[in-house]
Amino acid sequence: MCGIVGYIGKQEAVPFLLEGLRRLEYRGYDSSGVAVLQGNHLSLRKRTGRIANLAELIASDPAPGFTGISHTRWATHGSVTDANAHPHTDQSGSLALVHNGVIENYATLREQIVLEGHSFLSQTDTEVLAHLVGKHLNALLTPSTTISSALLVEALRMALKQVVGTYGIAIVHKELPGLLVGARRGSPLVLGIGKGEHFLASDVSAIANHTREVVYLKDFDLAALTSDGFEISSLLGGKSGYEITAVEFTESDVDKGKYPHFMLKEIFEQPDTVRDALRGRLSREEATAKLGGLNMSNAELRAVERVVLTGCGTAAHAAMVGEYLIEQLAHLPAEVEFASEFRYRNMPLPKDTLVFALSQSGETADTLAALRESQRKGNRTLGICNNVASTIARESDGGVYMHAGTEIGVAATKSFTSQCTVLSLVALLMGRMRHLSTTQGLQILDELEAIPDKIRTILALDSQIREIALKYANSQAMMFLGRQFNYPVALEGALKMKEISYIHASGHPSAELKHGIIALITPEVPSVFIAPNDSVFEKNISNIEEVKARKGPVIGIGTEGSKRLLSVCDDTILIPACPDFLSPLLTAVPLQLLAYHTAVALGCDVDKPRNLAKSVTVE
Ligand code: M6R
Repeated sequence: MCGIVGYIGKQEAVPFLLEGLRRLEYRGYDSSGVAVLQGNHLSLRKRTGRIANLAELIASDPAPGFTGISHTRWATHGSVTDANAHPHTDQSGSLALVHNGVIENYATLREQIVLEGHSFLSQTDTEVLAHLVGKHLNALLTPSTTISSALLVEALRMALKQVVGTYGIAIVHKELPGLLVGARRGSPLVLGIGKGEHFLASDVSAIANHTREVVYLKDFDLAALTSDGFEISSLLGGKSGYEITAVEFTESDVDKGKYPHFMLKEIFEQPDTVRDALRGRLSREEATAKLGGLNMSNAELRAVERVVLTGCGTAAHAAMVGEYLIEQLAHLPAEVEFASEFRYRNMPLPKDTLVFALSQSGETADTLAALRESQRKGNRTLGICNNVASTIARESDGGVYMHAGTEIGVAATKSFTSQCTVLSLVALLMGRMRHLSTTQGLQILDELEAIPDKIRTILALDSQIREIALKYANSQAMMFLGRQFNYPVALEGALKMKEISYIHASGHPSAELKHGIIALITPEVPSVFIAPNDSVFEKNISNIEEVKARKGPVIGIGTEGSKRLLSVCDDTILIPACPDFLSPLLTAVPLQLLAYHTAVALGCDVDKPRNLAKSVTVE
């Protein structure tokens, strides 16, 4: 959560910082701020609300200078106020610091430092870190020493050694106007290399317009940047090795194009993103999937006896689809656990258990911790990530990239279908090593290749889905129901609806209705049934009848030509046929559109829903 951008060079820092913050707004958008150095003067500007508010403030009260840091916040410690917005300063007001992460022992550190005479202006954990760095710097300064880059880095090292928690930070000091310092542990930080200028950012998208060369800092790296160079040392002492990576990021990745919202653009990209997840991975000769990135031999894959999948939010729902897929196609026991639970559970993980960590961003704190926990237990842990430069992608023992392109909308859409596509390939590969015949393998390849066009057919129903959304937009609550492969889709449909439209929604296995949920059914509470023509179609129809008997409106998502569904539902969205195990790739799409149009009808901020952030890098 939270986005950081830093600049040092020969241009005015503020335009660069504001542009970078706008690109990182998906990481948090409660408040924002900048600290800019000119000579020995530090200008600090902070504002609650969107970046536009900060830009307005700076327009009326400029912050000139060629070195600066900035931050867009997702509040963790301390409410959303100007005072709690970053940057934070030390006791002397000479040093400014921005932070992404959580200082877990901040309360103890704060108590100690207050006893030493420090006073605080905010309720944040971050301000404690700024004070600590300032305190150590003062202690290092003797009458015979003058402030220098080395002393500031040393003071930062001393402060970080006292800290428990996660951080990506950037610091400037008014007596060192030619210096920008950064450090990371657990929160991403990328260093951009320019000509006569250098950058720091939480995510490459913030700086990709200005550089094509970056260094992804590692945990415990401390970076000292000037306009002409940089040095990276380790928190533990000595120099730290680094690799310069070419930026693979195009401007269109952060452009809405013809769409009013990123979410809609990303929904409409799905025919291409699913195709990209399949590209180069289908082997007709062997009637299976080719997934070289798993870094596992056939013998190792055959030795797998059990699969555990973990992730958060939408990624956890995709993992549940994976659970059904792996059971059905590979006949292997599979289990899903939310990453936040996995990390603190003592789950028995025999050595022949293969673990998958799913994460679009590859930076979700709980998923990263689950990956590390599984590796600590000695289990091979594979990543299914979209962000190839992310921590999870780098730390996993292998994996499969989603190749979905940047997802900006806070509501995950194309990443869900890409994750499900990748998991179908994993299930196919493991199935072909066990029970599936060549003929079955080839049929699955054919069905997978047909999915992008079928998604295109569903997208053509956009205006019909919009009409349905308008009809139910003022509902008190909504139920999403599905069985088997479409139970996780029901959960996902409900998550989409609640996170962007703020209508309370919940997802359930259809048959659970009569075990309690049916008590909530009224004419004001519509139910969305995901009922394609599959092995449980008739069962779903009975559940729909039960809702209708209680005057609950029903929206049915079914298969083209399904007269039965048409006859029992109030509204119906009919989509192309496909095998049960691939249906989540199709049924998720109308639910995304339903949530999108409902949120737009209610005037909600679709791409930046309240209280949320795209990348949850705190626990
Ligand atoms: O980047 P990740 O896939 O790890 O993110 C996981 C969740 O935070 C994410 O899916 C979240 O639930 C979305 N807002 C759902 O739309």
